[in-house]
Amino acid sequence: MGAKKLPVLDGPVASAGDHRALMSRFPTGVAVVTAVDTVGRPHGMTCSSVTSVTLSPPTILVCLRIGSATLRAVHERGAFAVNLLDAGARDTAELFSGPVPDRFSRVRWIRSQYGLPWLVDDALAMAECRVSRVIRDGDHEVLFGRLLRVAEQPGTPLLYGMRSYSAWRPSSPARPAEMKDMSA
Ligand SMILES: Cc1cc2nc3c(=O)[nH]c(=O)nc-3n(C[C@H](O)[C@H](O)[C@H](O)COP(=O)(O)O)c2cc1C
Repeated sequence: MGAKKLPVLDGPVASAGDHRALMSRFPTGVAVVTAVDTVGRPHGMTCSSVTSVTLSPPTILVCLRIGSATLRAVHERGAFAVNLLDAGARDTAELFSGPVPDRFSRVRWIRSQYGLPWLVDDALAMAECRVSRVIRDGDHEVLFGRLLRVAEQPGTPLLYGMRSYSAWRPSSPARPAEMKDMSA
């Protein structure tokens, strides 16, 4: 007996509102993705589209809006950093997603080993990545990044879901072994 054919999936796509409603029900951590342009100027934007891809080689991805100055800077240097925000860094998440010019004059940051901006007062983990692959789809680019170096510090993650921010509240404290797994 042959497999039953699926109907051809050529109907209209869902609206942007439907997309937002779906993804608002999928809470995530919040990151600021940063990069430097050819003259060394820092750029950065708030991003929740940070996803682990493979452990070997260690790879993550982020999705950035085409037209963003941060995306342009990522292409200029072939590198980006992710700063995973602490629960106390909500103002920074809003700063890097809002219309304020010169975002970096309002936060403390340092240059990582490869010269990328690390938000040392706001992030509980930071990583620098070399772009390994780029896929363009619709109005965003998916950037795959090989992890070069990771730094962690104590903290509690900032979360975003149901269109609002909240702090990670574990039902029981993490055991030391679990903390160790995270950095593996
Ligand atoms: C919680 C949160 C998550 C976001 N995630 C993304 C994302 O993954 N990719 C993206 O392109 N924009 C994302 N944005 C929107 C950008 O932060 C926003 O458009 C910002 O202004 C972009 O910086 P730019 O104006 O310098 O390009 C997010 C905003 C918020 C508040």
